[in-house]
Amino acid sequence: MPDEPAPAPTALPSRMPNALSSTMPTMADPAPWWKTSVVYQVYPRSFADGDGDGIGDLPGLIARLDHIHDLGADILWVSPFYPSPQADNGYDVSDYQDVDPLFGTLADVDRLIAELHARGMKLVIDIVVNHTSDAHPWFVESRSSADNPKRDWYWWRPPREGFALGDPGAEPTEWQSFFSGSTWEPDAQAGAYYLHLFERRQPDLNWENPQVRAAVHDMLRWWLDRGVDGFRFDVINLVSKSIAADGSGWFFNGPRIHEFLHEMNRESWAGRRIAGGGAVFTVGETPNASVEDARLYTDPTRGEVDMVFQFEHMGVDHGPGGRYDVRPVDWVAMKEVLDRWQRGLAEVGWNSLYWCNHDQPRPVSRYGAGDTAYRDSSAKALATVLHLQRGTPFVYQGEELGMANYPFTSLDQLDDVESRNWARAALARGVDPAQVLAAVNVQSRDHARTPMQWDAGPHAGFTTGTPWLPVNPDHVRVNAAAQRADPDSVLAHYRRLIALRRQLPVLVDGRFELLLPDHPHVVAFTRRLGSEALLVVANLGSEPAQVELPDSWADSTVLLASGMPSAPLPWGRLAPWEARIHAS
Ligand code: NOJ
Repeated sequence: MPDEPAPAPTALPSRMPNALSSTMPTMADPAPWWKTSVVYQVYPRSFADGDGDGIGDLPGLIARLDHIHDLGADILWVSPFYPSPQADNGYDVSDYQDVDPLFGTLADVDRLIAELHARGMKLVIDIVVNHTSDAHPWFVESRSSADNPKRDWYWWRPPREGFALGDPGAEPTEWQSFFSGSTWEPDAQAGAYYLHLFERRQPDLNWENPQVRAAVHDMLRWWLDRGVDGFRFDVINLVSKSIAADGSGWFFNGPRIHEFLHEMNRESWAGRRIAGGGAVFTVGETPNASVEDARLYTDPTRGEVDMVFQFEHMGVDHGPGGRYDVRPVDWVAMKEVLDRWQRGLAEVGWNSLYWCNHDQPRPVSRYGAGDTAYRDSSAKALATVLHLQRGTPFVYQGEELGMANYPFTSLDQLDDVESRNWARAALARGVDPAQVLAAVNVQSRDHARTPMQWDAGPHAGFTTGTPWLPVNPDHVRVNAAAQRADPDSVLAHYRRLIALRRQLPVLVDGRFELLLPDHPHVVAFTRRLGSEALLVVANLGSEPAQVELPDSWADSTVLLASGMPSAPLPWGRLAPWEARIHAS
């Protein structure tokens, strides 16, 4: 998810309590199963290709499920596989209730569900309902005429008064799209603009229209009937918009957002049980949500969603110009953000924990030691810091191997619509092409999308055809086959971290307390629950560190360590990228 469009919204997000929940309290699940879970995300295009066309698919994914199961993850989130023109690799859906032939068939989804359930795992599908594709029949109808019954399913607006369609300044608001340019596309036939917060081929649905919301609820129930266990909601806090005739308004955490989420919960999954028991699992992607917003979204008594993806920690290396205005990672700032979220959701609500997904560069390159001697130690240290926090950890495909960014040498190698549009706009503004390439080489979404590295063979074992995006040349060293039996691999470290979460209630529910907030690259914190306590300490730098740690921990048991030199260092001394978990 890129940075928010400028200019900033002109009004503050609503902090009103959810009106519906005050009249209809929702029963909170007494012990939600997903609090002890770990989610593994698959971007199906890039995971495993079953038919040799160079694009990953569901049969390919099914054939590789044991990799995810052996890791210990118990929820699989699959990015969109629905019919789509692929303007945004499937986040532009043209039919919510089918599978794109690129990825397989509905029968493959049924098989995926059955194979997961047989392994005691769950399936979470990706629901993209802030917008559809412009090829979705709803939009085709809506566009066809002003009196079409679906006209009001999207945001159509005339040019500003005194302007003609397409004139500079005629757009109904000054919003800039997440993918560069205005959020308003002039449609000559309609004589009006339609809203698209993302690409112009991704028109925004008008959730003010109750028929739109009912269609979404129907669709969600249909997938639950089919056997899915939960939903990841794409940019769900953007679905309520305020657009005034004078061009003011906002769309992050909009005026009716809590009402819409509560209604969707109530109409679509409240009270339903998934296979094997337990409630349906939901996570909402919520850019620009504050801790306070997140508490409202995830307070179980309000009946909205179970957890959120918040973005504050993703912005620590972004300058004022957004994600391509790249800054070094400031760990003091990062710790302040992580600590605030940990404390803010300690009593009420729940967070997801992630360093990566299909929209983010690879953590080992972004926050870690890159392709140096410390590469693996840095991947392990970052994982330790993430997985030991309170929340539900998400592992993005290849992160468990320490996969790194792709060394792009030309803008022509990019596929991602967001990077391409940004690069085009930057070049048009006269930015030096070398600088544009350098920014893309740090931040492009394509880094997360290069094919999964299964083995050292041709195309990393991803496909027998020609991969749709180049395979990282480092796959000859960094791949699942090489790491599987190596007890010292990044993969083995992830396995241990995930196993710890299952064994230690303190890891799930323990209180979080940050230590050393001002140290420039050591992250340290404790977790406490009753008489159980953990100390986590990690040096996220390529220099040794000397820190003051409470002496009471000096002789404690080390549960898990990585990056340690062969001869142990004195208490308080840390080797580069060393990470340890102590238990009292
Ligand atoms: C967020 C998704 O994660 C991203 O990949 C997508 O481009 C946008 N939403 C639009 O759907």
